Amino acid sequence: MSILVTGGAGFIGSNFILNWLSSNDEPLICLDKLTYAGNLKNLAGVLDDPRLVFVKGSIEDYGLLLELLKKHRVRAVVNFAAESHVDRSIHGPEDFIQTNIVGTFRLLEAMRFYVARLVNSEKDPFRFVHVSTDEVYGSLDIKDPPFHEDTRYDPNSPYSASKAASDHLVHAYHRTYGFPAIITNCSNNYGPYQFPEKLIPLCLHNALAGKPLPIYGDGQQIRDWIYVEDHCNAIQMVMQHGRVGETYNIGGQAEKTNLEVVRTLCDILDEKKPSPCGASYNEQVKFVRDRPGHDRRYAIDTTKIVREVGWRPTESFTTGIRKTIDWYLDNQDWVAEVTTGDYREWIEKHYLT
Ligand code: NAD
Ligand code: DAU
Repeated sequence: MSILVTGGAGFIGSNFILNWLSSNDEPLICLDKLTYAGNLKNLAGVLDDPRLVFVKGSIEDYGLLLELLKKHRVRAVVNFAAESHVDRSIHGPEDFIQTNIVGTFRLLEAMRFYVARLVNSEKDPFRFVHVSTDEVYGSLDIKDPPFHEDTRYDPNSPYSASKAASDHLVHAYHRTYGFPAIITNCSNNYGPYQFPEKLIPLCLHNALAGKPLPIYGDGQQIRDWIYVEDHCNAIQMVMQHGRVGETYNIGGQAEKTNLEVVRTLCDILDEKKPSPCGASYNEQVKFVRDRPGHDRRYAIDTTKIVREVGWRPTESFTTGIRKTIDWYLDNQDWVAEVTTGDYREWIEKHYLT
């Protein structure tokens, strides 16, 4: 039997696959549409591995999904496939509705048909892990307690609304059909292979290119940051030990303001790769127009996943950010590859740099 990973050529999905293959023999099927955010270079080290089958295609394709589920006798599905960038969802929400809502619906339908026809010994252990976000809970004030699994959904961007809709569908399939699903809601990931449109890789890229580091509004918005490998380990542990029908919040216990994050990046870059002009990268920080509907703060209460699943993050922000910066400095060819074509066009059109 095997595991189907959707969106496995993106940032978190590719880290999940690399992590999985380093410690498991069970085969993986990666289904990815290869949008601007998906890149086979992320999987370059394992594309020839006989345990990995890559299929280019969409989670909206019911027929393809059913074929893959049957052909590879899939015993678990992890759904990373999504449009994931808040700013893009503001400029053009349509793809978010298609992939995040319609795609998740088609995936659920294909799995429901497939699982219903499994024999009981295969049906009982089947698992679907739907990878979602803490953004579905909306925005916290500074004095509010962190998000917990019962926090009311209150999404503010087209991205988070589309993820919230997909979570509701997954939840409804469990309630209505007894479908064996688990939802995870995680905070901001960072680490290798993150596309340079998100805050950390964008600022690393711009810093080295001598461009402005755009800080939206006053830069005092707070995010909880988790090193991507910790998130991937959490998902693996939820697959094994999570309870069907439950939701688990995942976070890195590292709340930082955006300005703090960017200043930290600049300080570490000053030390590791001083700017050729001799100035600190901090001088490239530029305050720009705020993101519309910008959530002020996210924070995660991880009590449930720690208690029930036994997972804890292993990297602090201090250790994780250094690893991340080292990876980007060592992989400038990857950065060059993914920042051509569509990237340049989009960034230049929509960013105020
Ligand atoms: P990403 O944008 O880097 O990767 C998404 C991947 O999905 C890409 O490889 C893309 O080609 C693929 N994809 C897009 N549409 C598809 C479709 N219709 N069919 C098949 N594949 C498709 O995203 P990411 O940051 O790796 O996020 C992965 C998942 O984790 C998303 O569901 C996201 O909502 C969730 N998440 C992300 C974060 C984060 O900080 N990045 C935090 C919490 C949850
Ligand atoms: O919280 C989990 C979410 O984290 C995931 O669900 C999303 O897929 C992921 O993209 C991320 O969303 P954010 O909007 O928080 O991430 P982003 O890196 O785009 O922005 C982080 C913060 O930095 C946010 O407050 C906006 C701000 N920002 C972002 C960019 C790209 C800037 O100030 N300047 C920028 O140029």
